[in-house]
Amino acid sequence: MAKPLRLVHYIYLTFAFSVIYTDAGTHRNFTYVCDPARYAQLGLDIKSLPFCDKKLSYDVRARDLVRQLTLHEKVRQLGNHAYGVPRLGIPEYEWWSEALHGLSNVGPGTFFDNSVPHATSYPTPILTTASFNESLWNTIGKAISTEARALYNLGHAGLTFWSPTINVARDPRWGRIIETPGEDPFVVGTYAMNYVRGLQDVEGTESNKYKDLNSRPLKVSACCKHFTAYDVDNWKGIERYNFDARVTEQDLVETFNRPFQMCVQNGDVSSVMCSYNRVNGIPACADHKLLKETIRQDWDLHGYIVADCDSVEVMIKDHKWLNVDNETAVSYTLQAGLDLDCGVYYTDNVENAVKHGKVREGDVDQSLQYLYVVLMRLGIFDGQPQYNSLGINDVCTSAHIELAGEAAREGIVLLKNDNGILPLATERNKTLAVVGPHANASVTMIGNYAFAAYNKGSPCRYSTPLNGFSSYGSVNYAAGCSNVKCVDGNLIGAAVEAAKIADATIIVAGIDLSIEAESLDRLDILLPGKQTDLINQVADAAKGPVVLVIMSAGGVDISFAKSNPKIHAILWAGYPGAEGGQAIADVIFGKYNPGGRLPLTWYQADYVDKIPLTSLQLRPDDSKGYPGRTYKFYDGPTVFPYGYGLSYTKFIYTLKAAPSKWSKKLNKFQHCRDLPYKNGTIKPSCPAILIDDLRCHKKFTFDIEVKNVGNRDGDEVVLIYSQPPLGILGTHIKQLIKFQRVSVAARTSKLVHFAINICQGLGIVDSNGNAVLPSGSHTIIVGDHQIVHPIQLTYN
Ligand SMILES: *[C@@H]1O[C@H](CO)[C@@H](O)[C@H](O)[C@H]1NC(C)=O
Ligand SMILES: *[C@@H]1O[C@H](CO)[C@@H](O)[C@H](O)[C@H]1NC(C)=O
Ligand SMILES: *[C@@H]1O[C@H](CO)[C@@H](O)[C@H](O)[C@H]1NC(C)=O
Ligand SMILES: *[C@@H]1O[C@H](CO)[C@@H](O)[C@H](O)[C@H]1NC(C)=O
Ligand SMILES: *[C@@H]1O[C@H](CO)[C@@H](O)[C@H](O)[C@H]1NC(C)=O
Ligand SMILES: *[C@@H]1O[C@H](CO)[C@@H](O)[C@H](O)[C@H]1NC(C)=O
Repeated sequence: MAKPLRLVHYIYLTFAFSVIYTDAGTHRNFTYVCDPARYAQLGLDIKSLPFCDKKLSYDVRARDLVRQLTLHEKVRQLGNHAYGVPRLGIPEYEWWSEALHGLSNVGPGTFFDNSVPHATSYPTPILTTASFNESLWNTIGKAISTEARALYNLGHAGLTFWSPTINVARDPRWGRIIETPGEDPFVVGTYAMNYVRGLQDVEGTESNKYKDLNSRPLKVSACCKHFTAYDVDNWKGIERYNFDARVTEQDLVETFNRPFQMCVQNGDVSSVMCSYNRVNGIPACADHKLLKETIRQDWDLHGYIVADCDSVEVMIKDHKWLNVDNETAVSYTLQAGLDLDCGVYYTDNVENAVKHGKVREGDVDQSLQYLYVVLMRLGIFDGQPQYNSLGINDVCTSAHIELAGEAAREGIVLLKNDNGILPLATERNKTLAVVGPHANASVTMIGNYAFAAYNKGSPCRYSTPLNGFSSYGSVNYAAGCSNVKCVDGNLIGAAVEAAKIADATIIVAGIDLSIEAESLDRLDILLPGKQTDLINQVADAAKGPVVLVIMSAGGVDISFAKSNPKIHAILWAGYPGAEGGQAIADVIFGKYNPGGRLPLTWYQADYVDKIPLTSLQLRPDDSKGYPGRTYKFYDGPTVFPYGYGLSYTKFIYTLKAAPSKWSKKLNKFQHCRDLPYKNGTIKPSCPAILIDDLRCHKKFTFDIEVKNVGNRDGDEVVLIYSQPPLGILGTHIKQLIKFQRVSVAARTSKLVHFAINICQGLGIVDSNGNAVLPSGSHTIIVGDHQIVHPIQLTYN
């Protein structure tokens, strides 16, 4: 979102921010719109305004409000900055706030100043995802929405947050992996669902308990973005603003759209944002099939669809789509189902578009209806008394700061630990060489959509790696490079000297937003500049054990370190949030036993030569030499595979309960469908049935005993994959279908219960984009093949 690298937008944004400081902040002199005292003061008769009548449904009230507006008044509510309607006592509202991993100062709806200087900054989503702990994802969402309500009460935030980012990280080069929950669509969707529920749900009115989802109260409104097939930012001159994603229906259904579907259907999110790119020629924000048919009708969104900021302008000026002018562009996007424009194109152009007959006023009314219902569900019209008491004392609480630390500890992944060198012993006061360009990281740890330097505000506090290690020994610091680009080796000597005399050496290296960022994709997946030299020279010279910590979002080819016997241990810390430094030190010194798993495949460096970033194709393609993408379709060599992660203890799995077959008697509405098979495979007489036709509600049990056979307590992430019957062409190698993180005390065991819907667990998406359940011998694979269990499926 936002286009800060483009001067014209930068000016626009800067200007907007300065205006908004007064708009969103000091001007909000009311607690809720339909306060009778407020209307009395405005000299208006509230009794004559049905939209304030609490006895009516939100739908009816919103319709009444829209009915009362003139066309001119209507269009002034269609931008991220809604101007309000003074005549009817409707205040202005700024829709754009961000809460990707904590409240952010990016987006004019939320701002910080001396009275509200901080908010809690959690690890970036890519690291929090690595915890594979659904309840953690949900708990963070709840904590953030509590701070959001507090800031709203203080006049420092709106209640609509354009987070989370749930695009599938399909390629390691993409610059925005930091914002995502990784490469697996099911995990991304599961993260989205939990995080959105954490942000949105008011206790007791969760979506599975509530009858009328159009009136379900919201704590804050979340937004799943960016829809869809958006995974190119700026690569070899191709920018998201002119990128046309060519993508098959199969890949859309199976990979790119799946998290959005889960976000809408399982998370009941109240907003979806469309992306800048085109999808098969049509700008995503102008695509009727994607917005109205898929999100609105098929998935039944209860909420509004918003454009990524200035998408309408991008459509006209960058895509030059159909050479449309302003009025035609806004009429197309409105008709496609785009309700709210982040920008000024709707506000400035819709009125004339209606007057010139390019779009019906009814389309405008429909969009306003969706928008006002969301504001009503938030309590902006009637208040939400249960949150009234939240204020500055609910921001940066010790519980929230501790949760940020907990998330970092749970996410950190142990990648190498030769001879159990970690955890380092704590019994005496050690000298520690803490070196590398991230040894004193602070802002790097909070990544993007946190506290951008161009606005006020910062995390509650920072715990840098130096701070963290200082609690375990006396620290000798040498950066080794002046920044991650590490263009010259001048500073390496000092780091080497520090390592020579230290009892243990910790090298904190990696990349940052100068290498992988919004509007900045990577060209290679190596450590930049002389970082490799720094690490090898320090490791060579070190007196004690050497631990390498990598900060990055996308994978980095660190094969050299993996195979270097002088580098004894390696950790991946993502971008671990404001409490990251202490979390890293606590893991290295064994105060916390790591259990995180990589949410991405870490490819070898030559991967980038095999397939252009601009190809969205997931499946391998021999004719083009494409090797396939993500663990679902790529089975070549890796530096570390998806789901990889070590512990300081050892776990053993035993399968306790699982079915070995499932057969289904077909009724006359369930027709066999063909699937392509490899030559030489015996094709079943009934290869597959459409999942929509099967209506499978039945779940099968899959129970695993997880035994901790070591002498340390630890957390284990149990990953359950399914593999389709061998011989089916063009399907995935395997797919993750369930996961659970469990704590198991030393020398004890825990029974982990999974209930798996057979269609969700064993289904595949065929080449036409239909979800089907194939017959034949499926295989359930647990973790790294610790359990391999066949299930025979037959139709008769
Ligand atoms: C509240 O602020 C608005 C301007 O935003 C002003 O018109 C109105 O009179 C104020 N109301 C009160 C009660 O101060
Ligand atoms: C998962 O997260 C929750 C919420 O933060 C936490 O209480 C729990 O201990 C975590 N589970 C495991 C197994 O680490
Ligand atoms: C199109 O709309 C934009 C935004 O309102 C405006 O800046 C621009 O001047 C308009 N272009 C034309 C040709 O009217
Ligand atoms: C550890 O040793 C350093 C000097 O090597 C000293 O400054 C520091 O106070 C000692 N810390 C503790 C906790 O003993
Ligand atoms: C670490 O970075 C902070 C700024 O984030 C700076 O104030 C501090 O001096 C640095 N520490 C060292 C030892 O350089
Ligand atoms: C399978 O065999 C047929 C006929 O022998 C041949 O035309 C086809 O190309 C083969 N397909 C594959 C995938 O090898």
